[in-house]
Amino acid sequence: MPEKADSQSWIFHRSNFVLQWRLHVLAAFVFLGLVVIGSIDGGTIRSIVESRRSTKQYSTMKPHTQHPLTNITQRQETLRNFSAITKNGTTNTPLAQESNDKKPHTQHPLTNLTQRQETLQNFSTIIKNGTTNNPLAQESNDNDTRVPPSSNIVLKNDENVSFAQKYSDGVLENLASRRNGSDGSVKWVSPELEPNLTENLLSRWLAPEGEPCRGSRTVEIVIPGLDGKDLIELTAGDSHEFGFQALDESKNLVCSGGDYFETDLSGEAWKSRPLVRDFGNGSYSILLQVHPDFSGDYNLTLILLYRHFQGLKFSPWRFVFDKQLRKFRIKFVKGGAQLPKIETCEKSDFNRDLWLGRWTRQAKNDGCQISNDGRYRCLAPDFPCQSPWCSGSLGLLESNGWVYSSHCSFRLFSADSAWNCLKNRWIFFWGDSNHVDTIRNMLNFVLDLPQIPSVPRRFDMNFSNPKDASQSVRITSIFNGHWNETMNYEGFNSLMDEGFRHLLKKYFSEETVPDTIIMNSGLHDGVHWHSFRAYSEGAGYAASFWKEVMDSVKQRGLAVPQIFYRTTIATGGYARSLAFNPNKMEVFNWVALDKFRRAGLVSGVIDNFDMTFPWHFDNRCSDGVHYGRAPAKMKWRDGEIGHQYFVDLMLAHVLLNALCSR
Ligand SMILES: *[C@@H]1O[C@H](CO)[C@@H](O)[C@H](O)[C@H]1NC(C)=O
Ligand SMILES: *[C@@H]1O[C@H](CO)[C@@H](O)[C@H](O)[C@H]1NC(C)=O
Ligand SMILES: *[C@@H]1O[C@H](CO)[C@@H](O)[C@H](O)[C@H]1NC(C)=O
Ligand SMILES: *[C@@H]1O[C@H](CO)[C@@H](O)[C@H](O)[C@H]1NC(C)=O
Ligand SMILES: *[C@@H]1O[C@H](CO)[C@@H](O)[C@H](O)[C@H]1NC(C)=O
Ligand SMILES: *[C@@H]1O[C@H](CO)[C@@H](O)[C@H](O)[C@H]1NC(C)=O
Ligand SMILES: *[C@@H]1O[C@H](CO)[C@@H](O)[C@H](O)[C@H]1NC(C)=O
Ligand SMILES: *[C@@H]1O[C@H](CO)[C@@H](O)[C@H](O)[C@H]1NC(C)=O
Ligand SMILES: *[C@@H]1O[C@H](CO)[C@@H](O)[C@H](O)[C@H]1NC(C)=O
Ligand SMILES: *[C@@H]1O[C@H](CO)[C@@H](O)[C@H](O)[C@H]1NC(C)=O
Ligand SMILES: *[C@@H]1O[C@H](CO)[C@@H](O)[C@H](O)[C@H]1NC(C)=O
Ligand SMILES: *[C@@H]1O[C@H](CO)[C@@H](O)[C@H](O)[C@H]1NC(C)=O
Repeated sequence: MPEKADSQSWIFHRSNFVLQWRLHVLAAFVFLGLVVIGSIDGGTIRSIVESRRSTKQYSTMKPHTQHPLTNITQRQETLRNFSAITKNGTTNTPLAQESNDKKPHTQHPLTNLTQRQETLQNFSTIIKNGTTNNPLAQESNDNDTRVPPSSNIVLKNDENVSFAQKYSDGVLENLASRRNGSDGSVKWVSPELEPNLTENLLSRWLAPEGEPCRGSRTVEIVIPGLDGKDLIELTAGDSHEFGFQALDESKNLVCSGGDYFETDLSGEAWKSRPLVRDFGNGSYSILLQVHPDFSGDYNLTLILLYRHFQGLKFSPWRFVFDKQLRKFRIKFVKGGAQLPKIETCEKSDFNRDLWLGRWTRQAKNDGCQISNDGRYRCLAPDFPCQSPWCSGSLGLLESNGWVYSSHCSFRLFSADSAWNCLKNRWIFFWGDSNHVDTIRNMLNFVLDLPQIPSVPRRFDMNFSNPKDASQSVRITSIFNGHWNETMNYEGFNSLMDEGFRHLLKKYFSEETVPDTIIMNSGLHDGVHWHSFRAYSEGAGYAASFWKEVMDSVKQRGLAVPQIFYRTTIATGGYARSLAFNPNKMEVFNWVALDKFRRAGLVSGVIDNFDMTFPWHFDNRCSDGVHYGRAPAKMKWRDGEIGHQYFVDLMLAHVLLNALCSR
C-alpha cells in the first residue's frame, strides 16, 4: 500500500500540537490513576493531542460512534432472546417482517416468532450453486471473517513532536486557539475516502496480527488530554483532537487497531458524531468541533462497540462488547475562531463521499404532545429555518426544532417547490426497505398526498400534484433485499437471479429511461455475506451490472441517469449488535461507494449513515432497522407511545436537495 504522504502531512503541519510520549514516561499514566504494566520494547507511542486542519484536506478516516443508553443486563437478555430465535446460524432479524408492509409499523419486530422461524426455514433451504448455504459452516472458518482497518493513517516514527499540552490543571489549555491567520479563521473538519479503499482494506485484513500483542483485546482506554478532569473547557470553532490508547485486561497496551468506537457529542442544541481515527496500532484519536453559535455545555460519550473488526464478522452478536468507556462533561466557550459560513447545498456538494454533519436545534416546544394520528406538530408549520442551518419551513419537519446540516445546509421543501422540481421526472429507487418508508414519507409529508398509506417493495407508479394535475412524477422502486420481493437477506446477491436482473434492465430499455437513480446496498447485505471479501466481490458485481445497464442506455443515445448513492443507515438500539451493526454497515457503505465510483457510476452521495448516527443509540427514532416508519399513536419498540419519524423525513428533503440542486 503506497504511503500516503499527503494525507499525513496535515497531522504534522502544526506539529507543535502533536504529543509524543515514550514508554518510559509511564508516570503519566500512573498520575492519571492507571497502572500500566509491561512494555513494548523500543516502541514509541505517538498521539495527537490537538491538531487543526490548515490547508490540507483530511483523508481516509474512520468515523466511528457513540451510545450512552446501554444497559448491559438488558443487552444480554436481548442477546439471549436473539439467540433463542437463531436457527442453525441464520440470524433471525426484523427485516423479515417487512415483507408485509401493509401492517401498521409499530409492531415489535420480533413479535411473531412463529412467522419469523418459518421465514428462516424457507431462507435456509435455498440452495446456492449446488451447496447448501449454511452460514454457520462458513463461520467456522473464522480467519476469513476478519475485517480490515479502515484507516491507513499510520503515524510515522521519524516525525518529532513536542509535548505542548499541560494536563495537570483542571482546565484544559486550548492550544489550537493559537490560530495561524490574522483573521482567526479555522476550517470545518472534513474526511475523505482513501483511494483504492477496497484493496487497501483487503491487504490490511490479510496482514497477520503482529506479535507481541496478538490476540490482546481492548477493555479500556486512556485519554491523557481528557481523563481525570473535573472541568474541560475547549474553544468553540477550533477542532480539537485528543489521542487515546487502547489497553487490554492486564492494562497492557493493545498494539493492533480495528476497535469500533461509537462517539457522541451532545448539547442542548447540537448532536454530532465526533470523528475517530484509527492509527492501526492501538492508538486512536477523537476530534471535536462545535460551531461558536452553539457554545455551552456538552456531554462527550465513547462506547466501545466492537474490538478488532469483530463487528464485521458473520455472527457479530457473539462478539459485541458494547461498553460505555467514557462520558465527559465539556464546556465549549467562544474563543473568537470563525468557521466558514455554511452555504445551501449545490449539485457539486453531493460529490463528497463522507459527510461529517450535525443536528442542530433552533427551537423547541417543551409541551409538545403526540397527536392522535401519531404526529408531533410541535412548531407552527411555517416556523422558519434559521440561516445558515437550513432554509424553508422548519416546522414542516415535525422534529421539534432539530435539523441536519453537513458541509452545506439543506432546503426544506414546500409542496409547491417539490412539485416544481419533480414534475415530468422519473425517479428510480433500488435498495433496502428504508427507501419504501422514505418514499411514503415524501408523498405524505412533502408532496401533499397523505392518503397513500404505504407503497409496496416493488412498484412503478405515477403520482400527480393534487393541486395541479398537470404536474406528475413517475416513481419506480425495486427492493434489493431479495430477488423475490417477499423474501430477505440477499442484498447485492439478489443480482445472481436472472429474472431479477431482467426486471431491472426492463426499466432502462424503454423509450424513455429514469432521469435519476437513488440506490444503496442495504441491511440485507449485512446478513448475507460471509466475509468482507465476499461482500466486496458482490459489490463489484453490482457495480459491473449497473455499468452495463448504463452503457446500454448510452449506446441507445439516451441521457444516462444520474446515480445518487444513499448510504445505509446506522442501525439503532438493540440492532447495534446484529448482523447489520453500524460497524459493518459503515465499511459496507465505503466499499460499495468505492466500487460504484470506480465504475464511473456515482453522480453524488447522500450520507444517510451520518444523518442517522446521532439517533442510533436507542430506538426512539427507529425500530432498529427503519427510521421512517409511519407515525402511529401506538406502543413502539422501546415501550413508549409513538415514535419519532423526522430523521427519515429529513432524508426525504435531502433527497429533494440532491434531485433539484444545480
Ligand atoms: C437494566 O435492564 C434490566 C432488564 O431490563 C432492568 O432490570 C434494570 O433495572 C436496568 N438497569 C438500569 C440501570 O436501567
Ligand atoms: C426475553 O424474553 C423473555 C421471555 O421470552 C421476556 O420476558 C424478556 O422481556 C425478553 N427480553 C428482551 C430484552 O426482549
Ligand atoms: C438445524 O440443525 C439441526 C441439526 O444440526 C437439524 O436437525 C435441523 O434440521 C436444522 N434445521 C434447519 C431448519 O435447517
Ligand atoms: C404469527 O404468524 C403465523 C404465520 O404467519 C400466523 O399463523 C399467526 O397467526 C401469527 N400470530 C400472531 C399472533 O400474529
Ligand atoms: C415457507 O415456505 C412454505 C412452502 O415452501 C410456505 O407455505 C410458507 O408460507 C413459507 N413461509 C414464509 C414465512 O414465507
Ligand atoms: C457457481 O460456482 C462456480 C464455480 O465455483 C462459479 O464459477 C459460478 O460463478 C457460481 N455461480 C453462482 C451463481 O454463484
Ligand atoms: C485460515 O486458517 C487456516 C488454518 O487455520 C490457514 O491455513 C489459512 O491460511 C488461514 N487463512 C487466512 C486468510 O488467514
Ligand atoms: C526527535 O527528538 C529526539 C529527542 O527526543 C531527538 O534526539 C531527535 O533528533 C529528534 N528528531 C528530529 C527529526 O527532530
Ligand atoms: C502560519 O502559516 C505559515 C504558512 O502556512 C507558516 O509559514 C507559519 O510558520 C505558520 N505560523 C505558525 C505560528 O504556525
Ligand atoms: C490504486 O490502484 C491502482 C491499481 O491497482 C494503482 O495503479 C494506483 O496507483 C493506486 N492508487 C493509489 C492512490 O493508491
Ligand atoms: C449530560 O448527561 C447528563 C446525564 O445523562 C444529563 O443530565 C445532562 O443533561 C447532559 N448534558 C447535556 C448538555 O446534554
Ligand atoms: C416468492 O416467495 C414466495 C414465498 O416464499 C413464493 O410463494 C413465491 O412463489 C415466490 N415468487 C417467486 C417469483 O419466486
